[in-house]
Amino acid sequence: MTLRARIVGTGSALPKNRVSNDELAKRVDTSDEWIVARTGIRFRHIAGDGETTASLATEACRKALDTAKIAATDVDLIVLATATPDQTFPASATKVQAALGIDDCIAFDVAAVCSGFLYALSVADSMIRSGSARTALVVGAETFSRILDWEDRTTCVLFGDGAGAVVLRAEEGDSGILATALHADGRHNGLLYVDGGPSTTGTVGKVRMKGSEVFRHAVTNLASVMNEVLDRANVVTSDVDWVVPHQANARILDATARKLGLPAEKVIVTVDQHANTSAASVPLALDLAVRDGRIKAGDLVVLEAMGGGFTWGACVARI
Ligand code: UT7
Repeated sequence: MTLRARIVGTGSALPKNRVSNDELAKRVDTSDEWIVARTGIRFRHIAGDGETTASLATEACRKALDTAKIAATDVDLIVLATATPDQTFPASATKVQAALGIDDCIAFDVAAVCSGFLYALSVADSMIRSGSARTALVVGAETFSRILDWEDRTTCVLFGDGAGAVVLRAEEGDSGILATALHADGRHNGLLYVDGGPSTTGTVGKVRMKGSEVFRHAVTNLASVMNEVLDRANVVTSDVDWVVPHQANARILDATARKLGLPAEKVIVTVDQHANTSAASVPLALDLAVRDGRIKAGDLVVLEAMGGGFTWGACVARI
């Protein structure tokens, strides 16, 4: 029998305030027609007072632990993926740990922007398979609204806030994470970045993106890493029940699925409701599809994401 990291619970959290494209069109020179046609986005949730990356992450983790029927005190590892931590330090993972009442476990943040959840999942999977942890919370949580330039229509309409979490448990058997693949290419730092930081400007900075160039790289890199991870898991496209992609743009989802020969009905889409929630988008979409009954025990699921750096990655899991 093989020891694997099995996804035994999922949870998610969204800020209360839901903002439509028409509401955004009152703040910047844009329109519902442009946003829907170019991105598929209709709504995004925006964090209000008291809603932070760590508070949304904590809510998502509580729900994931509830569905897994696992006590918080059983958790021995928390990996939180975010580009928008509550503070420069400590790691937001330790804030989640404290809020969940866990006195001692491994807890740290991972920074790989929109691919952060895939990076966090892969690290937690390795730690479980090597015996360093048995029960892990892997979280993607963001409050991108706080690093958006609300006067830049080319970026501010694209992002939203939220959190998603999974509980991983060490189990012997055929279910669980079968393979992961991660990549980064720092030559493209300048295509998607934040123009500030503690060691440079001393400010938090705002998101800057050359969208059409990111788009082109995204389709190529995502199709390639999905083929790679399917090979590693020794499965083929027709074995896949569901793809849970990073939700950046509906046109990227369509183009990637077409490139791989995947039917559109197998792709979980939430970008219309949540916009791009960066590291939160994959676990948020996974949780919705598990809760509405589309993703069921035994299904073969592919997760994938691409983001600033560039970083990109994919994972094949038997649920
Ligand atoms: O999560 C990390 C990964 N991120 C992504 O994957 C994002 C990838 N990129 C994209 O999703 C798309 O490139 C965008 C949605 C960002 C932009 O779509 P596009 O089809 O590539 O448009 P564009 O940037 O080429 O802009 C086309 C036109 C421009 O006007 P001109 O120069 O042709 O007159 C823009 O100024 O659309 C204009 N435009 C807007 N118009 C109305 C840009 N943003 C807006 C807007 N409302 N919000």
